[in-house]
Amino acid sequence: MILQAGGITHYYKNDLALDNVNFEARRGDFIAIVGESGSGKSTLLSILSSLLRPSHGELFFEGKAYTLIKDIDAFRQKEVGFIFQFHYLIGYLTILENIKLAAINKKSTYIDTLFKQCGIEAIKDKYPDEISGGQRQRAAIVRALVNSPKILFADEPTGNLDSHNSQNIYELFKTLSKSGTTIIIATHDRKVSEYADKIIEVKDGKIL
Ligand SMILES: Nc1ncnc2c1ncn2[C@@H]1O[C@H](COP(=O)(O)OP(=O)(O)O)[C@@H](O)[C@H]1O
Ligand SMILES: [Mg+2]
Repeated sequence: MILQAGGITHYYKNDLALDNVNFEARRGDFIAIVGESGSGKSTLLSILSSLLRPSHGELFFEGKAYTLIKDIDAFRQKEVGFIFQFHYLIGYLTILENIKLAAINKKSTYIDTLFKQCGIEAIKDKYPDEISGGQRQRAAIVRALVNSPKILFADEPTGNLDSHNSQNIYELFKTLSKSGTTIIIATHDRKVSEYADKIIEVKDGKIL
């Protein structure tokens, strides 16, 4: 098991956002967390990815408790990757420069391979505003993968994309998961169920 979470409960002040959630993921799983807006998907994803500390519950990465990980910044930098609804690419830098900014000790041949795998090798010298929304999100995926994370977390990654581009992103996630990267995505787009190996439905902070 690459990721295990047990009894995850989270309150924002006095408001219960997650209620005793259990979760597990294996290497190469493509898992979709689905549910209506406000159901608790982002809260769960933030907790699983170590960005948010839950009010209660336990989390383990490769069997090691998150609370025992000495350098949580290094963990976030190297072991996990993140993508959000907005791409957060820097407008003044080319796509390749954006990727290199995030890369720690990575050879350009490795970066070239990632560009090819994500289907955007032709636009690497363009600026973010010169490419399409789907291409920008692929660039954000390359950036998230550049330090070879074991798990890629994506929160509503297709929220700004049309259905055609969304499905291309899901296809890419499927390919990436087959090559061993664990993918965990939160989305309200039910179309994802045609691509993910496992669907987890959240409602009012509980897993159905
Ligand atoms: N930073 C926050 N402060 C207070 N309440 C929050 C915060 N973030 C989310 N919530 C509340 O927690 C619940 C779950 O939200 P969220 O995890 O964002 O759901 P989803 O991603 O499924 O839309 C909602 O009721 C939301 O209003
Ligand atoms: Mg959300």
